[in-house]
Amino acid sequence: MAVLTGKVAVVTGGSSGIGLAIAHAFCEEGATVFITGRRKEALDDAIVELGANATAVVCDSAVPSDLDALYDTVREQAGHVDIVVANAGIGIETVFGEVTEEQVDALFATNVKGTVFTVQKALPLLRPGASIILTGSSAATRPPYGLEIYAATKAAVRNLARGWAHSARQYDFRVNVLSPGTVPTPGLLDLVPAEAREQAEEATPLGRLGTPEEIAAAATFLASNASSYVNGSELAADGGAAQI
Ligand SMILES: NC(=O)c1ccc[n+]([C@@H]2O[C@H](COP(=O)([O-])OP(=O)(O)OC[C@H]3O[C@@H](n4cnc5c(N)ncnc54)[C@H](OP(=O)(O)O)[C@@H]3O)[C@@H](O)[C@H]2O)c1
Repeated sequence: MAVLTGKVAVVTGGSSGIGLAIAHAFCEEGATVFITGRRKEALDDAIVELGANATAVVCDSAVPSDLDALYDTVREQAGHVDIVVANAGIGIETVFGEVTEEQVDALFATNVKGTVFTVQKALPLLRPGASIILTGSSAATRPPYGLEIYAATKAAVRNLARGWAHSARQYDFRVNVLSPGTVPTPGLLDLVPAEAREQAEEATPLGRLGTPEEIAAAATFLASNASSYVNGSELAADGGAAQI
């Protein structure tokens, strides 16, 4: 039986990579899904793939007024939200010694500020028992060389879930972090050169990189009632890379 039948989900950064795979999985499990991204063309392509249960909204997570417009659309079309996946994120290589203010601002604007307001602005729409999922990263535990600032943003994301878990009773939600290891996606392939991907594969106890579908399966668990007593936790889907 489909495990998300009748649920309404918002997946930010749902036009590519991990977010798109999560949107696919949620649609297959019977959810109505709203996806976001900054590029309309990529969203249009994604909607063709996802079909009639998905709606695309152009929305930059780093811009709070864009998030207001997103939730206005969700309110008008669906009335409430059961699942929020704050997944939109960017990676930028930052060489220590040459890090710029622009790089730090861009990384924190999308990955941290975007996560804060994606979740906070959803609160008025949440149905009791809602599941909030924040996309973290194994980099928060094992920061790769040259990705220290990105890793710091993901450490902040991990801590937001710890902090927000306190509010579970007040808002009747649960919040968890899903932390992928290295997963070949358009974003990852742009950021991480082939040699570093091979090193990551070598360093992963399972001996291979992950797939977006494997991350989506973990997200489906966190979204569904099967994880009803899981709150404030981090689910690592990293082949063991950051676990030993
Ligand atoms: N792939 C990995 O190995 C890996 C590992 C650990 C964690 N992660 C995390 O997983 C998440 C997804 O990454 P991915 O690898 O799937 O990357 P991706 O293929 O580049 O997809 C990123 C998605 O986020 C959207 N996005 C980026 N910035 C945005 C913003 N400011 N507002 C709204 N949407 C935005 C992109 O669309 P637009 O460009 O059109 O905005 C796209 O839909 C990120 O949080 C990333 O840090 C990835």
